[in-house]
Amino acid sequence: MPSTVVIGGQWGDEGKGKIIDILSRKSDYIVRYQGGNNAGHTVVIGGEQFILHLVPSGILHKGKVCVIGNGVVVNPEALIVEIENLKKRGIKVSSNLFVSEGAHLIFPYHWTIDQLREKAKGKGKIGTTKRGIGPCYIDKVGRSGIRIADLMDDKLFRVKLKDNLNEKNRILRKAYGSKGYSFEQMYKKYCTYRQKIRKYVANTTLIVNKALDEGKQVLFEGAQGTLLDVDFGTYPYVTSSNSTAGGACIGTGVSPARIGKVIGVVKAYTTRVGEGPFPTEFSDRLMNIVRNKGKEFGATTGRPRRCGWFDALIVRHSILVNGIKEIVVTKLDVLDDLKRIKICTGYRYRGKVHRTFPANIEMLFRAKPIYEELPGWERDTSGITSYNRLPKNAKHYLKRLSTILDVKIKMVSLGADRKQVLNL
Ligand code: IMP
Repeated sequence: MPSTVVIGGQWGDEGKGKIIDILSRKSDYIVRYQGGNNAGHTVVIGGEQFILHLVPSGILHKGKVCVIGNGVVVNPEALIVEIENLKKRGIKVSSNLFVSEGAHLIFPYHWTIDQLREKAKGKGKIGTTKRGIGPCYIDKVGRSGIRIADLMDDKLFRVKLKDNLNEKNRILRKAYGSKGYSFEQMYKKYCTYRQKIRKYVANTTLIVNKALDEGKQVLFEGAQGTLLDVDFGTYPYVTSSNSTAGGACIGTGVSPARIGKVIGVVKAYTTRVGEGPFPTEFSDRLMNIVRNKGKEFGATTGRPRRCGWFDALIVRHSILVNGIKEIVVTKLDVLDDLKRIKICTGYRYRGKVHRTFPANIEMLFRAKPIYEELPGWERDTSGITSYNRLPKNAKHYLKRLSTILDVKIKMVSLGADRKQVLNL
């Protein structure tokens, strides 16, 4: 079956950008299916760094077709800036990029509402990227959103934007004391965006299904991670889309019967950005060591990421809900200097031991992790080019992960560059 979904098995930032870039070589189509410019996929090629927020990472390869599916929420300004920046760096973006006419558009009132809601929540905030993602998906589900197809039809767009602004300005003024937005200014701005994005807009459901009919290799690029999925994550500390493999069908119009396999990308430890429970989170000393060595700062917002030990409960949950048969372990080299390394294999809560991931958020906040402790390898692995050359304890760590998770490890990544990867 010529289709593969790549998803994050933790809370996002697992290094999917690099893995998708590697898998893109063997793919013909690379398709984003959910999220928006809250994502930041980093790819390093020959020391040069590219951070992609909306455009699939496959754009960096010649001859690939990249698709932004209907499940993505598109900030047109961010998309235009990203395309222009790629072009300035010599990357071709023209007939190799398609954007779904069914994708919902992000408007400035979405960012403003995102920011004001977070501020109003105070300590209970989610810690969003403030890109308007949640409010845009709220409008989609609330049936008041504006899709790219609506923007393409001037008459329809005027009506929809007027209706939305009437409602949004009332909310902004009455609930938040904010001044709201002028229709004419926003309308004009979006008309200029229309001109710039029109050439990419297409019925991407037809395009991707036709590619599959022709036996082309299609790679679905998940953004964020399983624990940020609105259904399967640490709700409400999640994003507003289905970042799990199932989202690939809804977000593109491809049947589940056409999905071949699902590859999960997991970091050799755990990180998360924003608020919410994190049972294996490090205390200050280890946090600083791992954060600095792993350069754990958000690719979109620059926020420092919270870091902790590998949590097998959350990854087993990911394996289950995504149907993962193979994983890729990234950033193993970040653990190089540590004397002891831990894997969380259970949670203790109110005197009971739990071996499966719970939906109860209170329990996740209070759970005490049960660890298996392993010796570190205390050697630099970043230059290693074959699995056999890895230090014995590093291999032992990987084997324990594979056994505890009951899954095959397909690849191990030991640094940011395309070349720093071991195939198992
Ligand atoms: P939102 O997607 O901006 O609404 O943010 C909701 C939560 O998802 C916050 O905890 C964010 O930090 C997190 N989040 C959103 N996108 C990413 C990502 O690409 N990587 C990691 N965390 C993310």
